Amino acid sequence: MALSRPDHPSSRTSRHPLWLLLGFWFCVVISIAVVLRRLNELIRPSHGRPPQMAAIDATFSSHAVLTAMHIIPAALFVVLAAVVLLRRTGSEWLERLFFFFGAMTGATAYAMSFHPVGGWVERSAVLVFNTWFLLSLARAYWLRLRGETARRREWMTRAVGILLGIATTRPVMGVFFATSAHTHLGPNQFFGIAFWIGFSINAVVIEIWLHSKRRAQLHNPGLYFGIFAVSPNEHPS
Ligand code: HEM
Repeated sequence: MALSRPDHPSSRTSRHPLWLLLGFWFCVVISIAVVLRRLNELIRPSHGRPPQMAAIDATFSSHAVLTAMHIIPAALFVVLAAVVLLRRTGSEWLERLFFFFGAMTGATAYAMSFHPVGGWVERSAVLVFNTWFLLSLARAYWLRLRGETARRREWMTRAVGILLGIATTRPVMGVFFATSAHTHLGPNQFFGIAFWIGFSINAVVIEIWLHSKRRAQLHNPGLYFGIFAVSPNEHPS
């Protein structure tokens, strides 16, 4: 059967490493979960939470509109990123929405960092990684306008990889919360450290992938680019 032939184009999608796909979906699920949790908290504030958590919730509820303007576009961007990068055929308007919501997420992330829980350490991480994300997104957009499909996809992949660092910060924060009785570190101290660790992990991992031999093998002209498959009609220039 044609589809099961190892050299058939459609079979090459499965050659993408499992670790990459698992990491990607892990980050997507965490991102959506944190948004749903925060939206729920903004709409129906819970009671009886530990003081540390209640204080953080109160902070976000005090600027609920800005928080919503950050997290709703962010969630939409993450969903669009999955759709756009997984689809084998491009969709003009889905990509436009991808760039639009990506820009909104980045812009509101700067605003969210005016009064960050983690102070200057967190703000510095936001300045570095958010700027890196937005520059990658802008470069992808510019390459799109020039019709450079393969390189556009590389920069879109980079932008998404960096942005999903926000999801990696969450388990890191979880470890800090769980060990706070021993470390005596509060959210004000560890949020910033968690931001640096989470975003750094994603930034390194995405560069490893983008420079890997495995990806280069997938770089079969006219067939596959980026993390995911590209249709034959999306030929690089
Ligand atoms: C470049 C990427 C991003 C940056 C730099 C960023 C930055 C920030 C900052 C600075 C805050 C405020 C934290 C504080 O006050 O201490 C925040 C809050 C938040 N962000 Fe983002 N963000 C990014 C992407 C995302 C994405 C992709 C999602 C989810 C889809 C997301 C979901 C949230 C949520 C839910 C909050 C509220 C806090 C919470 O419930 O934990 N962010 N973000």
